[in-house]
Amino acid sequence: MVATDRAPYLLALRLAGRRVLIAGGGAVAARRVPALLDAGAEVVIVSPELSTVLHDLANAGRLRWAAREYASGDCAGAWLVCACTDDPGVNAAVAADADAAGIWCVRADDAGASRALTPASGQAGDVRVGVLSGDPRRSAGIRDALVGALTSGAVGTRRVRRRGGVALVGGGPGDPGLITVRGRALLAEADVVVADRLVPRSLLAELPPDVEVIDAAKIPRGRAMAQEYINSVLVSHAAAGRFVVRLKGGDPFVFGRGAEEVLACLRAGVPVTVVPGVSSAIAVPAAAGVPLTHRGLVQEFHVISAHVPPGDSRSTVDWAALGSSAATLVLLMATEHLGVIAAELIRRGRDPKTPVSVIADGTLPTQRDITSQLDAVARDAAKAGIRPPAVVVVGEVVTIAAQMAELRGSPANGAAGGMFLPEAGRVHGNGPEWGNDLLRRPAQ
Ligand SMILES: C[S@@+](CC[C@H](N)C(=O)[O-])C[C@H]1O[C@@H](n2cnc3c(N)ncnc32)[C@H](O)[C@@H]1O
Repeated sequence: MVATDRAPYLLALRLAGRRVLIAGGGAVAARRVPALLDAGAEVVIVSPELSTVLHDLANAGRLRWAAREYASGDCAGAWLVCACTDDPGVNAAVAADADAAGIWCVRADDAGASRALTPASGQAGDVRVGVLSGDPRRSAGIRDALVGALTSGAVGTRRVRRRGGVALVGGGPGDPGLITVRGRALLAEADVVVADRLVPRSLLAELPPDVEVIDAAKIPRGRAMAQEYINSVLVSHAAAGRFVVRLKGGDPFVFGRGAEEVLACLRAGVPVTVVPGVSSAIAVPAAAGVPLTHRGLVQEFHVISAHVPPGDSRSTVDWAALGSSAATLVLLMATEHLGVIAAELIRRGRDPKTPVSVIADGTLPTQRDITSQLDAVARDAAKAGIRPPAVVVVGEVVTIAAQMAELRGSPANGAAGGMFLPEAGRVHGNGPEWGNDLLRRPAQ
């Protein structure tokens, strides 16, 4: 019998190289195994069958599988045992064997009969959180709240962390819910934030007052000089022992000059890390319901920087190849040259009636989009007052967005609506949810 009138003693196990025996190979085991593998445990599963996920891990050599029923004696050599079968009698036998052998055992089916308990665990940066409340759902909720608070900086870990160094963080397309968890956590640790124009501004507003925010968009110099100046700002703050987050729109390495900044830091001997971001090239079309690929329709897409138009001597874009292909084209920084680009694509072979979507302020509360076709898009965008930042999508996939909009607007699906509810309209921390809370703002 396990005495449940005494509070459990909380402990963390370093399991690297230690055997963990798991009885059962179903969904419960599949939930336990990844964290055990992450901890470096030598996982052995005894079960006549394995779930697909566990099967893949066994095939990849990540764990050992004994394809049979649990047998007395299987616990020998293990440091921890998890009884995860769907038969309480077997779980009880596993727990009794482990107990007799002096091995800690978690019974997944009956916490009250379990010697060891698995807390709801999570991680924010280098902080690990484990919660035991007696009610797994409540524990998970508290864990989520704690991890969220740590990640956002609401519960502070600043000042106990890294000294010096730079993190290039992709801020996502604009909605504050679309920065990565790691990016958010690093932001909460920053002493200095150097921010681009198209980053989620509300994240900056949340920073503590002692964090220095340098608005890179306001640096009053030419493009090249501004970049040199930004590089020197990153290096000098980091060299002075501050932790600098260079917050960039979208992904740092997609038309973001991120690599130049990484090279500048490395040349100056400054440690630098890169946190990928959700690029507007993919997220903005998605927020407007435009898939970049669609089975049977198109299986490739090209992302193009159109900051210089076709024909410009600085352009390295192969417009002839883009014009003759049927791939989806995703054009960034293209609004200014839309007419020239459309004419060039038509001249190079694209059908003038090819559908085009132009999406401005994607994922922001001010998001708006127009749907047109190549031979009319420049005029339609100008008429609708579309301004940068905008993403232009050329290709048949644009018609899928129209199909979605039609279905969403049908009585069977409730009110008319769009694709994406920006962060401003939701509880902080949630991401976009497809298929339920919809908000679309077509251009007037
Ligand atoms: C210099 S590029 C930077 C791209 C960024 N690194 C990324 O991965 O999204 C800036 C261009 O990205 C596009 N863009 C960025 N954010 C956008 C948004 N929220 N809505 C529409 N387009 C956006 C526009 O084409 C804008 O001119």
